Amino acid sequence: MLFPSKKDPVVGIDIGSNSVKLVQLEEAKGGHSLKAFGSFELERETIYEDNIEKPEVIVNAIRTLVSTENVSTKNAVVAIPGRAVVIKKITLPASSEYDVGDLLSIEAEQYIPFDVSEAALDYHIISESETIEDDEDAQREVLLIAAEQEKVNDYKSLVEEAGLNPIVVDVDVFAIENGYELNYGVDEDAVIALIDAGAGVTSVNILEEGITTFTRDINCGGDVITFTIRDELEIDVEMAEQLKKGAVMEGISPLKIKGIIIEALEELCSEVSNSFELFRETSEAAIEKILLTGGTAKIEGIDKFMSGKLDIPVEIANSFRKIEVNEKVYDPEYIEYMAPIAVVGVGLAMRKFEDKLVTSA
Ligand SMILES: Nc1ncnc2c1ncn2[C@@H]1O[C@H](COP(=O)(O)OP(=O)(O)OP(=O)(O)O)[C@@H](O)[C@H]1O
Ligand SMILES: [Mg+2]
Repeated sequence: MLFPSKKDPVVGIDIGSNSVKLVQLEEAKGGHSLKAFGSFELERETIYEDNIEKPEVIVNAIRTLVSTENVSTKNAVVAIPGRAVVIKKITLPASSEYDVGDLLSIEAEQYIPFDVSEAALDYHIISESETIEDDEDAQREVLLIAAEQEKVNDYKSLVEEAGLNPIVVDVDVFAIENGYELNYGVDEDAVIALIDAGAGVTSVNILEEGITTFTRDINCGGDVITFTIRDELEIDVEMAEQLKKGAVMEGISPLKIKGIIIEALEELCSEVSNSFELFRETSEAAIEKILLTGGTAKIEGIDKFMSGKLDIPVEIANSFRKIEVNEKVYDPEYIEYMAPIAVVGVGLAMRKFEDKLVTSA
């Protein structure tokens, strides 16, 4: 077979700075079931400040996951981080004279910090003014998506070297949106903030009428907390990581650890609040709810803390909420633990060949 058929299954590969997660879904009666799922922790500094420092470690992680989990396809969907991508709501003339794609390649230049000729461009139409097509003043709101082609190629080659066939290169924030939609549906009237608090970064993705209209990455995630514990207690990083996750160790005051965590979360909340301020400059809508994902969402009580600080209800999202999981294959406790962490992988696994792709690979 030369070209994969539209019905062929795909496997989602989420390359995070802390771990690689793999998800394959299968069509099941009235929904989806979990065909394959696994996570592989990466050694520190495999990805450092957005640079892939040790590609061989990631390739090995993908290979290992593919061989140990029940993966039945070589077709992979992978994501580049939102911060490697410009995602911006812009307004373009909607007159039938112009083609959106043509306009974009001219307009994009002013919005992106790299050369248009080195960019992979895409767009989603958000809305159109209700005027007739050939009205010269008609406007169209478009979400511009521009990625550096080189970054796209880097992620593609990781997957290729692991023996898979990268059919789609997505953006992690869109994968989160898809993972959310699958599990919670689309609420046309609600404005929802999806916040993914990972290791290196925390991404904020605001949905209006079910569509992403604002994204921002905050340079603060679980690593910052671990490193602060390490530095303040003068201990090694692995010990700091365990303490952060709740381990009790002789001679170390749990209250001190809690204090460090709270301070970091305060900083994170104030950055989230700044992001919401920026969003308000682009929209009058009020954010009704926060759905929290990522490993840092595992910090006990983070939902109450955040909702107290931001005065918005916070829910820890369950990426397997609508996915049938065979308890004979996957320990329900493990699945419950991973539920907020798997969101990008689940979103990637939802991509289909016929989807309008963010960046075709
Ligand atoms: N039980 C826990 N308590 C506190 N923090 C946790 C817990 N479990 C995981 N984490 C933290 O979550 C982070 C990893 O989260 P996640 O898997 O979402 O990151 P990633 O996707 O690999 O990284 P990124 O997307 O930021 O590049 C790490 O900082 C880890 O310490
Ligand atoms: Mg992540």
